[in-house]
Formats: sequence, C-alpha cells, structure tokens
Amino acid sequence: MSTALVILAAGKGTRMHSDTPKVLHPIAQTPMLVHAMRAGAVLSPERTVIVTGHGAEAVAKVAADEDDTAQIAVQEEQLGTAHAVAQARDALTGFEGDVVVLYGDTPFLQPDTLERMIAARTDNDLVILGFEAADPARYGRLVMNGNSLERIVEFKDASDQERAITFCNSGLLACDAKTLFSLIDAVENDNAAGEYYLTDVVEIARNRDLKVTAVACDEAQTLGVNSRVDLAAADAVFQANARAALLELGVTLMAPETVYLAADTVIGRDTVIEPNVVFGPGVTVESGATIRAFSHLEGCHVSRGAVVGPYARLRPGAELAENTRIGNFVEIKNAEIAEGAKVNHLSYIGDASVGAATNIGAGTITCNYDGVMKHRTTIGENVFIGSNTMLVAPVTLGDGAMTATGTVVTRDVEADALAVARAKQDNKPGYARKLFDMLKAKKARRDKGA
Ligand code: UD1
Ligand code: MG
Repeated sequence: MSTALVILAAGKGTRMHSDTPKVLHPIAQTPMLVHAMRAGAVLSPERTVIVTGHGAEAVAKVAADEDDTAQIAVQEEQLGTAHAVAQARDALTGFEGDVVVLYGDTPFLQPDTLERMIAARTDNDLVILGFEAADPARYGRLVMNGNSLERIVEFKDASDQERAITFCNSGLLACDAKTLFSLIDAVENDNAAGEYYLTDVVEIARNRDLKVTAVACDEAQTLGVNSRVDLAAADAVFQANARAALLELGVTLMAPETVYLAADTVIGRDTVIEPNVVFGPGVTVESGATIRAFSHLEGCHVSRGAVVGPYARLRPGAELAENTRIGNFVEIKNAEIAEGAKVNHLSYIGDASVGAATNIGAGTITCNYDGVMKHRTTIGENVFIGSNTMLVAPVTLGDGAMTATGTVVTRDVEADALAVARAKQDNKPGYARKLFDMLKAKKARRDKGA
C-alpha cells in the first residue's frame, strides 16, 4: 500500500515572536519540519505535501533541501486543520493509497508509531493517534466506545463530562486518500472557533458506518512547540535522549550534560568526548577517537584513533584519517588530513590536502583566499612544515619536503627539497648592551623631568 504524507505547517506561530516560520526553528540544529519529514520517511511516502502559509518560500527551500520531491501547498488563510489538509488535494491528484497527516512542529514522533497507525489501517477506515495526557489542558478529547472512536470533541466545544476524558488527540491520522477528502468535504465550521476542524472527520465517518479507531503513543512523542520556552525545553529533551543513546552505544561522555549534539551526529563506540564539545550538523566520528574539551565540529569526518582538541575547530569538509592529531587552536576546513599526520598547534588548514605522516608546525597558515577566489594547497607525505610557515595557495609541496621556520611559500616545492624564504639573520656584537644603556638613560631623564 502506498502512502502520502501531509505535513501541516501553516500556523502562524504567534507565540514564537519571530520572523522565522515556526516549523523552521531548530531542535538539535535541525528545523522542526525536517524532524517531521524524517519521522515520516519511515513510511517511504510516494508523495510528501507540506501545507504552509506564513513564510511559504523559506519553508519550501528547507523542505526541498531535505527531499527535492516534496510538494508545497499554500494555505492563504488559516481556516482550520481540515481546511489545511484540503489544500493538499491538488498535489495528491491521481494518488491512490493512504494519507498520513502530521504536524510540522512535533519533532519527537517515533517511526514505530507511524508503522502502528498504518498497521491499524488494515481493520479500520480511519486511524487517529491518541495519547494519555498528564494534563489534558486544551487538547481535543477522544470519545471511545470500546475500540471504536466515536468522535473527537475540541476543548472549546466539550461538556464538563467530556472534559474529564484524559485520552487526547495528537492530531495525527491515517486514512485512504479518497475517503479522507470525501470526509473533509462534509466538514463545516459551526463550532466555537468558527474553524474547519479536521477532528470532525471522525464523527462524519462514524455516521457513514466507517470503522474508526485510535492508536496510543507516549505523550512525549506528541509534544508540540508553541514558544521559545517550549523550543528550549524540547531541545533539552532531545539532547538528553541523544546523549543517553550514545552512552548506551558505548561512547564515553565525560560530562554528558555539557556535550551539545546535532540530530544527525554519529559517534562510534569507545570514542571519548571530553566536556564542552559542540557538534554541528553532519558530523561522523568513528570508534576509538578522542574529542578533547571545548572543540567545535561540523560537517566533518573523524576516523578511528584520531585525537582532536582541546580547543579545535573542524569545519565542513574536514576529513581526518586514522590516527591523526589536531591540537589546540587549530582550524581545519575543506581539507583532508591523511593517516598519522599532525597539526598540533595554532594553525589554519583550509582547502588543502595533507599527506600521511606529515607534520605541520605551530602557527602554519594556508593562505587560501586572495580576496576573490579560494585556492588549494597540496602537501605530500612525510613533509615537515616548519613553524610559522605561510603557504600561499595555489601551491604544492612534494613528498619528504621541508620548509624552514617562518618561510612564506609562494612557489611549488619539489619532493625532498628544503624551502627557505625569510630574511637572513645578522648578529651585531655588543649592540644589545649599547641599546639597553641608551634606553635606560632616556627613561631616567624622563622620570626626573616628571
Ligand atoms: C489540534 C486539534 C486537537 C489536538 C491538538 C494537538 C483540531 C481541530 N484540533 O488543536 O484536537 O488535540 O491539535 O496538538 O485539529 N494548521 C494549519 N492551518 C490551519 C490551522 C492549523 O496548517 O488553518 C496547523 C498548525 O500549523 C499546526 C497544526 O495544524 O501545525 C495544529 O493546529 P493548532 O492550531 O495548533 O491546533 P490545536 O488547536 O492545537
Ligand atoms: Mg496546537
């Protein structure tokens, strides 16, 4: 059975007080919308439709980056959740199968929950995802009759008796596309909010003698984000879960609560992460590596046995081979560091490749940018780069080459050659003493005058 996802994301998100559409606010550095899309991806949807209103263009761009087949349906006016789903009708023309509706601001949905909803569809025409609410607050209440869901009553429209129900509507549903749109056609807006409620499809379906049920999940999975406070709380929960999962896998986190992870961070077993390390998106660290304190990594790959930091910065495209050493105050960007190579102190290596077992001395800089264009530096194997070398790209150094400390390399250096490019040293006997005497006399005159 094929499925289509409809992700509702048109709400204004007023309480975020933001120019950014709510669903683009990130949790673990990934927009909430992308979390929702990834959760839905477990169903291998044939089509994905995102219903957007405010900031449609920005939402479309983020959606396309994640899945270039995702379609955008614009809901010009937010007239309610049923009206929102109706906007997806054109995008689903010709689609036959199940539609799964989910919200763009619920980042904790687990894949197996969606699978259970689809499984429940075998015996039911319409499946709603419900949860036992610790504080049912303003959620829609699920009115059950045995396994049959009779209707959903919105808080605003509920009687005191109905408000006492704690089994609540998450907002997710699964239904055959044709059936769903036919049910939505019958939804009216004669309720307390004057909105077209998606929840009304339940009662309409029951009146047509269709089978409707509710599948339950943990409340934590249906957690929605409405404010920055919710966002921070959701991020904290996400971080706590992600850290726990890493510990469970065999990763050592010396001070777990100080390690900040991205949603896609991958770390292998027996790797040690020291305190205060930040992972941006797109980081993979293999087994048995060490990331020392106060390092910042994004878009990079760290191989087995590598040691990074303390105070290192790995930027996108940093590719560290096995047993490499990246030390304090070193920045690596778009550069491959081959096996056993060392960049231990105060260096910038960008748009470069560094060969195996090469040693980069303290204070080395690849001068990769001429103010207009970026250029590459290619360094061979077993090269020794002296401290404070400036490598003016584009430039290539052959295997076994060496640069003298303080050299500014502007031409290629062939294999096994030594490059020296600095002013010659000149020692002047007795000059230091003379200079000191002169300066001391000058200071004495000044102190007396004052
Ligand atoms: C909805 C449900 C309620 C459920 C609750 C769970 C309805 C009528 N009510 O209520 O039963 O317990 O969610 O959180 O469905 N949206 C649009 N266009 C619109 C209106 C909403 O895209 O015109 C989107 C919002 O961006 C949001 C989602 O739909 O992602 C839910 O809308 P919201 O206004 O939060 O519904 P609730 O009143 O919370
Ligand atoms: Mg809501």
